[in-house]
Amino acid sequence: MDTLFLGQHTIVLESVDSTNNYASRALQEKQLPEGSLIIAHKQDQGKGQRGSVWESNPWQNLTFSAIFYPSFLQADRQFLLSMAVSLGLVDYLNAQFPGRAQIKWPNDLLVDGVKICGILIESAVRQLVVNQAIVGIGLNVNQTEFSGRFDATSLKLETGTHHDLMGCLSSLCGHIESRYLQLRGGNVDKIRADYHTNLYRLNQWSDYLVHGVPVHALLKGVDEYGRLLLTKKNGEEVVCEVKEVTFTP
Ligand code: BTN
Repeated sequence: MDTLFLGQHTIVLESVDSTNNYASRALQEKQLPEGSLIIAHKQDQGKGQRGSVWESNPWQNLTFSAIFYPSFLQADRQFLLSMAVSLGLVDYLNAQFPGRAQIKWPNDLLVDGVKICGILIESAVRQLVVNQAIVGIGLNVNQTEFSGRFDATSLKLETGTHHDLMGCLSSLCGHIESRYLQLRGGNVDKIRADYHTNLYRLNQWSDYLVHGVPVHALLKGVDEYGRLLLTKKNGEEVVCEVKEVTFTP
């Protein structure tokens, strides 16, 4: 692994409930080195955003969790970690699919508008800073058939070729580490600017459900607290927390 710390210590599991849960249990026992990865070939209870299930065929995709100690981040700025990780992923994807990868707020990665990767960050706050973050990542690599309500894609569907999982992981870790170091180095302006450059639907008129109510709005961006900023036709600004809004096609 060509990184300074991310992926230098790994725990590889054939099967687990969820790598995020495994990481959380392990951290209750002892402090793992920063950048440790928990990698599983099969998850029985993979967790997605908003209490959903993350489905991933065994041995075909990357499902792993990375451990960070971002105590330089104030608790109310913790979305910056999500921005940095999303940027690492979009950098990795755009290296293969130039200009085709985007970040869909708050935690999805898309290629040509179709989801290829999801992120689930579970963090612990102590004394107003983020003292531990478990960053769970599910990247569709070699799976070519997806069930369920949503469209999905994978590296294999996009390229037609099989990908070596550990090769992908190594390259991905390099990209995520670079963005994490950028964040840790205080380069927040660059993180925020690049995040917006790669943001799905930025400055586009689209449809949303806000508190269950259909809203047609312009996506203006994401603020420093991680809230989605929409503007309606009448000029009214709508500031949305993660649980308050869903994107409609
Ligand atoms: C989402 O898009 O809903 C987020 C999906 C996150 C899935 C990953 S797979 C590895 C890690 N362990 C989990 O249980 N979930 C995350």
